[in-house]
Amino acid sequence: MRSYWLLTPALLVFTVLAIPYEEYILAPASRNLLPTSVYQVNGSVTNPAALTSSTTGNTTFHGTSSVTYDFGRNIAGIISLDVASAPASAFIGVTFTESHLWISNEACDATSDAGLDSPLWFHVGRGSGLYTAGKKHTRGAFRYLTVVSNTTSTVSINSIRVYYTAAPTQDLRAYKGYFHSNDELINRIWYAGAYTLQLCSIDPSTGDSLEWLGILDSTDNITLPRTDSWWLNYTITNGSSTLVDGAKRDRLVWPGDMSIALESVAVSTADLDSIRTALESLFALQKANGRLAYAGKPFYDIVSFTYHLHSLIGASSLFQYTGDLAWLSRYWEQYKRGVQWALTSVDDTGLANITASADWLRSGMGAHNIEANAILYYVLNDAISLAQTLDDLSSTKNWSKTATGIKTAANNLLWDDQSDLYTDNETTTLHPQDGNAWALKANLTTSFNQSEAISSALASRWGPYGAPAPEAGSTVSPFIGGFELQGHYLAGQPDRALDLMRLQWGFMLDDPRMTSSSFIEGYSTDGSLVYAPYRNTPRVSHAHGWSTGPTSALTSYAAGLHLIGPAGVTWLFKPQPGNLTQVEAGFTTPLGSFEMAFRSSTEGFYQLTFTTPNDTSGSVEIGDVTGELVSDRGVSVQLVNGRATGLQGGTWRLTSP
Ligand SMILES: *[C@@H]1O[C@H](CO)[C@@H](O)[C@H](O)[C@H]1NC(C)=O
Ligand SMILES: *[C@@H]1O[C@H](CO)[C@@H](O)[C@H](O)[C@H]1NC(C)=O
Ligand SMILES: *[C@@H]1O[C@H](CO)[C@@H](O)[C@H](O)[C@H]1NC(C)=O
Ligand SMILES: *[C@@H]1O[C@H](CO)[C@@H](O)[C@H](O)[C@H]1NC(C)=O
Ligand SMILES: *[C@@H]1O[C@H](CO)[C@@H](O)[C@H](O)[C@H]1NC(C)=O
Ligand SMILES: *[C@@H]1O[C@H](CO)[C@@H](O)[C@H](O)[C@H]1NC(C)=O
Ligand SMILES: *[C@@H]1O[C@H](CO)[C@@H](O)[C@H](O)[C@H]1NC(C)=O
Ligand SMILES: *[C@@H]1O[C@H](CO)[C@@H](O)[C@H](O)[C@H]1NC(C)=O
Ligand SMILES: *[C@@H]1O[C@H](CO)[C@@H](O)[C@H](O)[C@H]1NC(C)=O
Ligand SMILES: *[C@@H]1O[C@H](CO)[C@@H](O)[C@H](O)[C@H]1NC(C)=O
Ligand SMILES: *[C@@H]1O[C@H](CO)[C@@H](O)[C@H](O)[C@H]1NC(C)=O
Ligand SMILES: *[C@@H]1O[C@H](CO)[C@@H](O)[C@H](O)[C@H]1NC(C)=O
Repeated sequence: MRSYWLLTPALLVFTVLAIPYEEYILAPASRNLLPTSVYQVNGSVTNPAALTSSTTGNTTFHGTSSVTYDFGRNIAGIISLDVASAPASAFIGVTFTESHLWISNEACDATSDAGLDSPLWFHVGRGSGLYTAGKKHTRGAFRYLTVVSNTTSTVSINSIRVYYTAAPTQDLRAYKGYFHSNDELINRIWYAGAYTLQLCSIDPSTGDSLEWLGILDSTDNITLPRTDSWWLNYTITNGSSTLVDGAKRDRLVWPGDMSIALESVAVSTADLDSIRTALESLFALQKANGRLAYAGKPFYDIVSFTYHLHSLIGASSLFQYTGDLAWLSRYWEQYKRGVQWALTSVDDTGLANITASADWLRSGMGAHNIEANAILYYVLNDAISLAQTLDDLSSTKNWSKTATGIKTAANNLLWDDQSDLYTDNETTTLHPQDGNAWALKANLTTSFNQSEAISSALASRWGPYGAPAPEAGSTVSPFIGGFELQGHYLAGQPDRALDLMRLQWGFMLDDPRMTSSSFIEGYSTDGSLVYAPYRNTPRVSHAHGWSTGPTSALTSYAAGLHLIGPAGVTWLFKPQPGNLTQVEAGFTTPLGSFEMAFRSSTEGFYQLTFTTPNDTSGSVEIGDVTGELVSDRGVSVQLVNGRATGLQGGTWRLTSP
């Protein structure tokens, strides 16, 4: 009897453990990687393909020559060469690059703001056998590897391997979250975001020591290639894994970057421990007056009003996904001192007057800046909600009054109703992307119509490669773009969010200069891979956690799985499909799984179902659907204008009216 056979315990376990849509996951199945193909050959080389995964045998370099290999996607790791034969004088060098733009047999792409990084050289003349790079020469991200023989001798290599070092504590393909829709580009974007964040999760003892900052302070420019110009041996946090800004660089903890990265980690790998170690390293640097760091060590101490606030957002957001009350309580006094420090900038207009320019490398961060004030407004509302959870209402009156003052003053002093956008401050006509996206995210607007107008005005500025950030020159910022995506959903414009993902993240995924697997940190409005704040273009990181906004936006908004209370003890299911006709998604918190599926047409939703953990409760907003929700416990609830409240956890299905 086939049905009995299918229900044997072993098969049941297999079914439970299967990862939905695992075929989209870009992380490798094994940590031992070989190149997948030969990209190009220079000079006389026999059997270059022998070093790829598809062929065996030796590759032989005859005199000065090189081969560039492609790993098919961005990876990270420590390289080993298995040398078959080489005379005493022989050297083999390897160079790394994320983009094919910087393939070279003389240098790697860059990790500093000057010059290029030197190759790693192996003195293979010491005999046949295995040569392995030291741990500090882990390369944080590369897709292309060029193997160079620089002498007249003949050298045979039997294999080249990379030990994959990213996401050191993760079972690389055991995602806790998944997403699937009828739009393949959107699906690939969700998974590339999740994979980018795996590349940005690192062994904390392999952070950048930033010695090049010291080098750069000297008056000499660095010439190409710099000798032993890069190494990764600074311990940046406690623990066994931590989340950094970028995989190649900076390999430092940056709180702003984490505001996007944290949410996308939470709905995909759920590796929140790597975020906890990062946040703790920032709280360890808090000053006596409450001020938090611009970045983790060894970055030098700079005041940044916005990045200070991003650490507070990180703490609140981590608590939202973990529900770890003990952790929150441990940091609560520090959190409150952080809020207090920010309040000292609020003047009698009601707005914070920003006197520290450091932010996400935008310019003009000063005075009554809209981005800084929108973020402060967001943080004050967060703080009030945390205070209620901890039942410490000592400051909430003042926070609430200050928040109201910010909202009133921002709308009086900074709203430009000619443009339907906020200006950057009172003395400029520039309408920034960051402040307007944050105004939507923070609900700084006074009406839904105003939010819709901002969404429309932002969308009308898109160019052929995405949404501009005029506050940073002619830059497309996938970081601020991530907040803009959330803003369009919050303004009830899911099609704009999807269109921006397809336009901007589609470009970032499929343009041949990219890695087809991870997201770049920034580029120009003309599509060139120049990021205006850097004078050295090869430095741009092609795996930057702050560019992964679509992953959480799709799960939270398109699929509609919103956590309200800690770890989702209360929740809201509010799908906003736009023109997606089929969506399935899920993720887990310590309380259990949140999952959903629906099909949608111009007639509305059908085959709609969602599951939330037992012992939770929530509400739904499902368009203007009429009909009934029926639970697996036999409870039915009538939807009124698509809404219902007070639903218990469990599996619910929409039945037709
Ligand atoms: C081949 O290598 C030589 C010597 O390094 C270099 O000058 C030349 O540009 C390279 N050619 C290609 C096509 O990379
Ligand atoms: C590779 O080279 C080594 C040393 O010359 C030789 O012993 C071995 O047979 C070669 N392997 C293959 C597959 O040709
Ligand atoms: C090859 O590179 C090594 C390491 O940089 C260097 O010591 C050696 O002089 C180079 N050999 C030639 C012929 O350029
Ligand atoms: C360093 O490079 C910059 C930019 O190319 C140039 O303006 C400056 O004169 C250089 N400095 C020295 C000491 O060569
Ligand atoms: C890191 O490596 C550099 C270069 O080899 C070395 O000078 C430095 O002392 C090392 N730092 C630590 C903390 O090991
Ligand atoms: C590491 O943990 C120790 C002990 O809890 C703490 O004192 C220190 O501040 C932590 N350091 C970082 C960088 O998180
Ligand atoms: C006000 O905003 C403009 C545009 O971003 C900027 O150029 C200017 O520096 C800002 N003012 C201050 C005081 O930061
Ligand atoms: C902000 O504070 C600085 C320093 O006190 C002051 O010079 C500046 O005029 C203030 N800006 C505004 C817009 O009030
Ligand atoms: C209340 O908030 C204001 C800013 O609105 C701040 O200046 C003041 O220090 C706060 N008072 C207390 C007691 O925290
Ligand atoms: C946003 O603010 C308005 C008042 O300005 C309020 O009516 C609305 O409920 C707020 N929205 C949310 C989601 O908090
Ligand atoms: C959704 O809209 C985009 C453009 O906005 C279009 O390219 C795509 O085909 C649409 N998909 C469906 C299923 O209608
Ligand atoms: C949730 O509750 C239902 C109904 O009581 C029960 O059948 C199910 O096993 C529970 N699920 C979990 C994960 O505890």
